[in-house]
Amino acid sequence: MLRTIPLEEIELNVFDAGTGHPVLFVHGFPLNHSMWRFQLEEFSKTHRVIAPDLRGFGQSEDSANVSTMPVLADDCAAVLDALQIDRPVTLCGLSMGGYVAWQFWKRHPDRLHRLVLCDTRAAADSPEVRQGRRASSDRVLKQGTAFLAESMIEKLFSPKTTSQQPDLVRDVQQMILTNSPQGVSAALLGMAARPDVTDWLPEINIPSLVIVGAADPISPVDEMRAIATALPQSSLQIIPDAGHMSPLEQPAIVNQHLRQFLRA
Ligand code: MLT
Repeated sequence: MLRTIPLEEIELNVFDAGTGHPVLFVHGFPLNHSMWRFQLEEFSKTHRVIAPDLRGFGQSEDSANVSTMPVLADDCAAVLDALQIDRPVTLCGLSMGGYVAWQFWKRHPDRLHRLVLCDTRAAADSPEVRQGRRASSDRVLKQGTAFLAESMIEKLFSPKTTSQQPDLVRDVQQMILTNSPQGVSAALLGMAARPDVTDWLPEINIPSLVIVGAADPISPVDEMRAIATALPQSSLQIIPDAGHMSPLEQPAIVNQHLRQFLRA
């Protein structure tokens, strides 16, 4: 199920299970493939599910350079090559995984059948956010990831998840803590450098499912509604009692929407 895949520059740790139409799950920042655990368990029964730890995250190797969104998208395509998957995939990305999804569409359009965009954004960072990311990138190299594990938690989960699922919250904190400072720093700089892709949306003429937690403060409902409106073939699902991590917080509801989308 978990395998090490050597790419040109680095080795990635990749979850690969099941048979059938391939679904590629791309995790958010600063997490790893296991944030998709409930989807991997459910959809490996009917689909081939592939979920890499992006470079610098989880058990994958760090790279010496900035992890730009195009580089991460090309890594995903290289993983598909290594697994000899040449059918177009459904790509399901959350947040940073969504930033990677836009680039995958741009750079590898023939490999993409459908898109699932969870809790993500099409806009670039504001100058203040970009500045903050650069500062965090320096800080993480000096101090490690502990400050991120502390500061991000309340932005990732709805108040209900925080109070009712403390084990899940702890688990995600642990995911953040075990990432390498070098990998996290490289991705912060990569996200800061990403372009505004809002103009691309009307051209992404493939079936798309847009999912957002009702209480997501990072990619709020109104912003995701605007993305869904701009995508020519999309539907929007708002997940109650979920924050930024809707697939982890409300897996049954998210899986139901995903199942319906994959069936269509
Ligand atoms: C993520 O979940 O991937 C991050 O919140 C993305 C970001 O910081 O923009």
